[in-house]
Amino acid sequence: DSPSGRPPGPQTTTYDSTFLKACRREPVPHTPVWFMRQAGRSLPEYLKVREGIPMLESCMRPELVSEITMQPVRRHKVDAAIYFSDIVVPLKAIGVDLDIKPGVGPVVAEPIRSRADLARLRELTPEDVWYVTEAIGLLTGELGETPLIGFAGAPFTLASYLVEGGPSRNHEHTKALMYGDPQLWADLLDRLAAITSSFLKVQIEAGASAVQLFDSWVGVLAPADYRRSVLPASAKVFQAVAEHGVPRIHFGVGTGELLGLLGEAGADVVGVDWRVPLDEAARRVGPGKALQGNLDPAVLFATPEAVETKTREVLAAAAGLEGHVFNLGHGVLPTTDADALTRLVEFVHTETAR
Ligand code: CP3
Repeated sequence: DSPSGRPPGPQTTTYDSTFLKACRREPVPHTPVWFMRQAGRSLPEYLKVREGIPMLESCMRPELVSEITMQPVRRHKVDAAIYFSDIVVPLKAIGVDLDIKPGVGPVVAEPIRSRADLARLRELTPEDVWYVTEAIGLLTGELGETPLIGFAGAPFTLASYLVEGGPSRNHEHTKALMYGDPQLWADLLDRLAAITSSFLKVQIEAGASAVQLFDSWVGVLAPADYRRSVLPASAKVFQAVAEHGVPRIHFGVGTGELLGLLGEAGADVVGVDWRVPLDEAARRVGPGKALQGNLDPAVLFATPEAVETKTREVLAAAAGLEGHVFNLGHGVLPTTDADALTRLVEFVHTETAR
């Protein structure tokens, strides 16, 4: 059954959580807060349980995933959990030879650049990611009414890692393929859209009550190129999960010029980085969508007073919005003081109590 209507039974409390209400643009008692990368190196308890376990291996151990996902919920009292994983996990699960190198990011052994290479991207089945289903089963029991956000990498950002072979500043191989062989590019993004759709469905069917599509690096594109070469594939992902009725969040860094198109691709909630104030972002996105964001993660390195001042600015810009989920403008930086994050959650809750 689709959870788009109000589901009966114990789900009701999750359905009525501030986070899901804000995503649906319903009135809330206070603005909900969660942080991209809230689980991770800013938490001593994370460093402790991860000790000696490589990143990708940790993503395949259901009990560890459940514990790490719960850590920021317990510590910071955030209004949503995000499933602990990485955007390259589904690619690893279908057999792509890749690793996550500490301090670097995902590294792919043999980049994908030719038509023959596409054969390495087969479809993803739920059995490939059995540990995700198992971990979410554990989590929904532990989380109670706190919603769980599932996520995946968007086709462009996944393609960037696959084509470059690792993190990239200029995305030159990716753009060479996109501009030079539009048909191969479209076929590559379609395959990635299918994998991403299946991966999000697994998470929703296991119990995730919202999903976020991370197109982290798509801000390197001009709007016309985004519309022509990326939007169709991302739209397929949003369309594929539409039947589940859970809120769909779409986020990328440096996407000020793309905000309208990110919404157009099919998101219910558009994530905004710190470069565009939320009132201006709302004008660019247009009516009918909630916004998520957008405190600069680096602000958390300033004095507590400065954090409050900058947070008030974000909340003031969000005051007229219908549907605001407070977040950072990108992920928590690894050396962030965990207590600063806890104080920020508390501050947003009290400032916005109504
Ligand atoms: O938000 C959360 O708390 C959930 C966990 C999460 C991770 N990766 C865990 C992780 C999420 C949502 C991601 C998504 C992800 N991974 C994105 C999109 C979000 C964004 O930041 O834009 C991207 C681009 C990646 C690729 C990736 N994986 C990078 C750039 C890195 C960092 C490399 C480094 O070491 O600095 C990773 C590794 C990674 N993913 C870590 C974590 C906690 C660090 C690994 C570790 O702790 O050893």
